Amino acid sequence: MNNKDDKKVFNQNKMTISVQSKTVNEALVRSSVAAFCAELDPTVDQINEIKTALTEAVNNSIVHGYDGDIKGFVHIEATINGDTVHIRVQDQGKGIADVEAAIKPFYTTKPDQERSGMGFTVMEAFMDNLKVVSNDRGTVVEMSKRIKA
Ligand SMILES: Nc1ncnc2c1ncn2[C@@H]1O[C@H](COP(=O)(O)OP(=O)(O)OP(=O)(O)O)[C@@H](O)[C@H]1O
Ligand SMILES: [Mg+2]
Repeated sequence: MNNKDDKKVFNQNKMTISVQSKTVNEALVRSSVAAFCAELDPTVDQINEIKTALTEAVNNSIVHGYDGDIKGFVHIEATINGDTVHIRVQDQGKGIADVEAAIKPFYTTKPDQERSGMGFTVMEAFMDNLKVVSNDRGTVVEMSKRIKA
C-alpha cells in the first residue's frame, strides 16, 4: 500500500476478537478494544465509559447467553469510522425472550446472583447508541460512541 492509499483509509479501522465464554477473558477484550480506540485520542472518562459498556455486553453473553457454559464463543468487532467507534458483541447463546423488557433498568432474570439488572442501562448511558437484536440462536448488541476532539 502506498501513502496515497493509506490517506484514503486514514479514519477507518477495524478489529475483531473472539474469546471463549469465560469471565477471565473480559479483561482481554476490554484492553484490546481500549488500545484500538487510542487513535481517536479519547479522554480517560471516554475510554472508561467504552470499557464499562463493552464489559457489560461481554459479561451478558457469558453469564446469560451461554449460562456459564464455557464451550461458547463471544465475538467482538470494533470499527472506527471517522471520529466514531462502533462496537458489536455477538454470541450464539440462548437469546433474550423479550428484548424490550430486558433493556429496562432493574430487569434481571438472575436476581439470585447479585445481578442488579443495570447492564443495558449502563450501555445506554455511556454510549451514544444501543441496538439489541436477539433470537433463540443468539444475541447481537451494537453500540457506538463519538469521540469529539
Ligand atoms: N447476551 C444475552 N443472552 C441472553 N440473555 C441476555 C443477554 N444479555 C442480557 N440478557 C438478559 O437481559 C437481562 C438484563 O440484562 P442486564 O445486563 O441489564 O442485567 P443483568 O445482567 O441481569 O444484571 P447486571 O448486568 O446488572 O449484573 C438479563 O438478566 C438477561 O435475562
Ligand atoms: Mg448484565
